[in-house]
Amino acid sequence: MIAISHLRAADELPAFDIAVVPVLKDRTTIVGDPLAPDLDAYERLLDAREFSGKVGQTLFVQTPDGVAPETLLVGLGDDVDAESLRRAAGGAVRSLHGYASVGTTLHLVDIEDSGGAVAMGMWLGSYSFDEYKSEPKPVALSSVFLVGGEDSAADVARAKVITDAIVLARDLVNRPALDKSPSMIADIAVGVAHNVSVKVYDETEIEEAGFGGLVGVNRGSDRPARMVVMRYEPEGASKTLALVGKGIVFDSGGLSIKPAAGMETMKTDMAGAAAVIGAVQAIAGLGFLVNVVGIAPLTENMTGGGAQRPGDVMTAYNGKTIEVLNTDAEGRLVLADGLALAAEMEPDLIIDIATLTGAAKVSLGPLIGCLFSNDDDAAATVEAASKAAGEKLWRMPLEKEYASMVESDIADMKNIGGRWGGAITAGLILSEFVGEIPWVHLDVAGPARADKTEHYVAKGGSGFGVRTLVAVAEAMAG
Ligand code: BES
Ligand code: ZN
Ligand code: ZN
Repeated sequence: MIAISHLRAADELPAFDIAVVPVLKDRTTIVGDPLAPDLDAYERLLDAREFSGKVGQTLFVQTPDGVAPETLLVGLGDDVDAESLRRAAGGAVRSLHGYASVGTTLHLVDIEDSGGAVAMGMWLGSYSFDEYKSEPKPVALSSVFLVGGEDSAADVARAKVITDAIVLARDLVNRPALDKSPSMIADIAVGVAHNVSVKVYDETEIEEAGFGGLVGVNRGSDRPARMVVMRYEPEGASKTLALVGKGIVFDSGGLSIKPAAGMETMKTDMAGAAAVIGAVQAIAGLGFLVNVVGIAPLTENMTGGGAQRPGDVMTAYNGKTIEVLNTDAEGRLVLADGLALAAEMEPDLIIDIATLTGAAKVSLGPLIGCLFSNDDDAAATVEAASKAAGEKLWRMPLEKEYASMVESDIADMKNIGGRWGGAITAGLILSEFVGEIPWVHLDVAGPARADKTEHYVAKGGSGFGVRTLVAVAEAMAG
């Protein structure tokens, strides 16, 4: 990973290959920016390139008299926040081919944690998943200096912990399903942090415990399921946050099999579990004073000879029965167990995160996650955290009148609703497993995976949710 450090004064400047300088609206640079060239001298070039400093614009200029021989001007517009700064930094790093060292003053914009935002944007913007490339593209950029302003070392260090968690989540999502069996993911969860204790239920313990949803979904797979329970319990913490992540390492649909095109991205179906594992790693790494339990039911959803059949009934951990009429609606079956286990621990808040329904992606598109909750305060807490984190969520209703859609003729409920409102009926099913505990359900079928590369996001697993979950934990730590 790129080394990012802070330099207080211009006289500490080492030689570097290029300066990356913020430009605000109307071509203004930041007062006192030690790297900014005098833009008046570049008026002809800026006019020709129509560079005004609008957000998203970039322009390379030759600066032979400057600290670096070249300068990349980065437009930030007139409304800079942490997310736009992360995006600008990510976009900048993406356009820097062949430069080894960079000095930047992007962090001099006047917002909180600007150094952290710039560092995270640069790290994430330089992310690529190349484990399977026989000749990975070499990355030239090795060091970035944040030049001037208040010391941002603490912000950068904190950003590193969260970035590492996002990278862990992205790597897990991007890895082919063949190479991420439930037990392999469980092993990774075990190793995330020295101050997290992890219990992994194997297939026998899963049966014995009564995780009937997980058992049912796993029936068609040759690879045994795992239930991961991670606990971070710092001394002196008073509140407890439970996180539950959907961990389907591959979703073929089961006997209600998906069409081929629908399966292409289904290694992504464990993105919720990846976000939970990453978030627990970061929360423990940052040492927040809040208890956190991270739960990940892990299995693949396959079509082997023992696969569950449409019409089968399973009993979840809390004793409620579900008639499985469509084996492709499997996420809610494994989450039923995970949520019931979380509720039994009586935490102050449960958040689940899942690539649960195509309907969620249809309703809000690829960039926005659906938020459902049984509690207005809990919803507000998570909405505020997601805003601060720059991850877009939109609250949707848990409409009680739709509960009749999931009534079963023979069991407590069935696992599918009707044709319409699929993200809502899925949420209503989940609500049966949390009792009275304040709970927020995040359906991230859209944003868990990026369809294209832009700013600090690369096509593929996005690590969506990690930052929001970390921000909620921080808020609960007070
Ligand atoms: N993993 C899918 C949901 C999904 C679809 C995530 C597309 C990301 C992109 C989930 O298990 C599923 O197949 N859901 C079904 C539910 C239906 C059978 C009620 C769906 O959304 O079609
Ligand atoms: Zn499915
Ligand atoms: Zn699924």
